Amino acid sequence: MELPNRLFVAPMAGVTDRPFRMLCKRLGAGYAVSEMVTSKRELWSSLKTSRRANHDGETAPIAVQIAGVDPVEMAEAARYNIDRGAQVIDLNMGCPAKKVCNVWAGSALMSNEPLALRIVETVVAACAPLSVPVTLKMRTGRCASDRNAVALARAAESAGVAMVTVHGRTREQGYTGLAEYDTIAAVKAALRVPVVANGDIDSPAKALAVLRHTGADALMVGRAAQGRPWIFREIAHFLETGHLLAPPATLDVSAWLLEHLQDHYGLYGELAGMRTARKHIGWAVRDLPGGEGFRQAMNVLETCEAQVQAVDGFLSRLAQDHPLWPAGVNQPVADEALTTTQPVPSAANDERLRQLA
Ligand SMILES: Cc1cc2nc3c(=O)[nH]c(=O)nc-3n(C[C@H](O)[C@H](O)[C@H](O)COP(=O)(O)O)c2cc1C
Repeated sequence: MELPNRLFVAPMAGVTDRPFRMLCKRLGAGYAVSEMVTSKRELWSSLKTSRRANHDGETAPIAVQIAGVDPVEMAEAARYNIDRGAQVIDLNMGCPAKKVCNVWAGSALMSNEPLALRIVETVVAACAPLSVPVTLKMRTGRCASDRNAVALARAAESAGVAMVTVHGRTREQGYTGLAEYDTIAAVKAALRVPVVANGDIDSPAKALAVLRHTGADALMVGRAAQGRPWIFREIAHFLETGHLLAPPATLDVSAWLLEHLQDHYGLYGELAGMRTARKHIGWAVRDLPGGEGFRQAMNVLETCEAQVQAVDGFLSRLAQDHPLWPAGVNQPVADEALTTTQPVPSAANDERLRQLA
């Protein structure tokens, strides 16, 4: 499986739907993982799950994340999604959401290693005959005193996972505090399969620092891509050249957002599309001059057409005073962000990623 680069879009339920994944891939991401799909068969025909399992027109490779607690159900969910186009199955052992954790799924599985491994083994056994690799996304552990990511990742590798992503927080942390990268570096040092570093990567400088600190094979970016999907090409450019890319033209951002909106409405339909698009528009404008006022005014609009006209008008006016996008501009590279003893990942890492399949 050839990946264009080592920059991944993080799975984010309610955010990284197909239109958003496609947008990120167009703007420099080499790989994207879908929002999690439940292993509960009775929910597969729900509108929400069937939208998530729809990959029409999506650029390969198509990676689908599944969440659940029962090994056999998880294997069935894997096959169901492979039948609908999944080329990689990702196991969710990283999500701290109550809805998931109350049933011992998501990151709660890290506290139950025997069950976590039975899930890995059963899903790998179901996917191997179809030549579909199984990957794993996890946190560093349950809490600061119980960081078992290395042990679980090693066992999962022995059970056949093809790649491991680690979000540098414990389950107990949720999204609070800062991500730490020592545990990710330890997982990387312990495994032969590719390891992906995730957590708080929000600039090209931070991306380089995390790559160097962890020696990871790839980086995964989540929240920083909300409203700023071109962060992937900014990071890619910086990693390739050592130079920061200029901010995009405001009119280019406007065109990307308007195309994203059309794709979004196409997936969700008029009413749900208009409502769920509000968050994407809000993220895009939040740091702009006049952005907060625009966001509030836009939130009372009731049709897709009105939404598109408002966005078009706001960004066209912005472009007159700001030909280049005036928010979220690349930060200068902080010296301390680059201070590290770890080498930049090598060509051997690139090779491991290429061999993911
Ligand atoms: C709104 C939201 C939804 C998320 N949904 C998922 C999910 O479905 N599966 C998963 O493994 N992680 C999920 N995550 C966690 C992210 O994939 C990622 O690990 C986390 O946000 C840390 O990366 P970041 O600092 O780059 O955002 C979600 C995060 C957010 C903010």
